[in-house]
Amino acid sequence: MSKTLDWDWANLGFAYVKTDYRYISIWENGQWDDGNLVTDNTVTISEASTALHYGQQCFEGLKAYRTKDGSIQLFRPDENAKRMMKSCERILMPTVPVEKFVDACMQVVKANEQYVPPYGFGATLYLRPFMIGIGDTIGVKPAPKFLFGVFCMPVGAYFKGGLTPVNFTIADMDRAAPYGTGAAKVGGNYAGSLMPHERAAEKGYADCIYLDPMTHTKIEEVGAANFFGITKDKVFVTPKSPSILPSITKYSLMYLAEHYLKLKVEERDCPIDKIDEFTEAGACGTAAVITPIGGIDYKDSLHVFYSETEVGPVTTELYNTLTGIQFGDVEAPEGWIYTV
Ligand code: PLP
Ligand code: COI
Repeated sequence: MSKTLDWDWANLGFAYVKTDYRYISIWENGQWDDGNLVTDNTVTISEASTALHYGQQCFEGLKAYRTKDGSIQLFRPDENAKRMMKSCERILMPTVPVEKFVDACMQVVKANEQYVPPYGFGATLYLRPFMIGIGDTIGVKPAPKFLFGVFCMPVGAYFKGGLTPVNFTIADMDRAAPYGTGAAKVGGNYAGSLMPHERAAEKGYADCIYLDPMTHTKIEEVGAANFFGITKDKVFVTPKSPSILPSITKYSLMYLAEHYLKLKVEERDCPIDKIDEFTEAGACGTAAVITPIGGIDYKDSLHVFYSETEVGPVTTELYNTLTGIQFGDVEAPEGWIYTV
């Protein structure tokens, strides 16, 4: 059993904690340097960095899990690496090869091993890989230099209570444009989500649901998570759209629903006017894990799916299967788990 800090692991929220080491690598003149671990949690960059003015930056989010026997594992880091490559390509940044990305994550977890929460609290070590355009640029064009970093912190539930239903409202703004950057994990999408999120929170909702930016008739995203619904006939349904961030958790759940729970799976439109086709609904993502959706406030009335207080049976089974795999209690599909 490797060592952990003495910490209030049961009451961690989703908040920044400065851990001991982070990884930094610089791209210049067409290549990445070897990268290394540093202790300084600040970054000094040019005032003319494209990341600061033109949003030339992207990020990822993944977690390290402590298993019952004390070992540490990552869940599908190669998928985060591949998605980051796509984000980088979309906004003309150099890509980080999968091996370099995974190696950086491994280094950061090993160096901060004592911050990986012990098994049994549902807590994890959240990793935040990111890339920013740096160097001196004032015209609207790609930066001459880029910084790829990975830092980490122990986290608990993103939405209050973890596997507890929460309510959402429909946003009256978009997070992404129809042919914009919605499918890339770039900061601009999140800047656009700050105001609708704040408005939803002020009204007492956990977050807002975004409809498709073209017609505003179909469910797209649940805050910083993807949506899924379970129909009366036990079909796992999740929206399909080019402006949704392709959630690794969502694609994992689609696989688990089909192969472990033996459900039918559909990736297709989810019209907001037909939400009563779902008997259960949830938000899924690395930070959100699976957060059951109690109800959605739509056209001034609250549509409740399964219950505002109880979790539906399929959602519970999906949650137990996913987290069982992530924490090493359930056998994972081949290639999903990377032991640190
Ligand atoms: N949608 C948005 C907008 C997100 O920020 C995230 C978080 O990464 C997700 C969905 C879920 O994606 P993943 O399951 O890969 O964490
Ligand atoms: C994640 O689930 O990793 C996210 O990126 C969500 C968020 C905190 C932005």
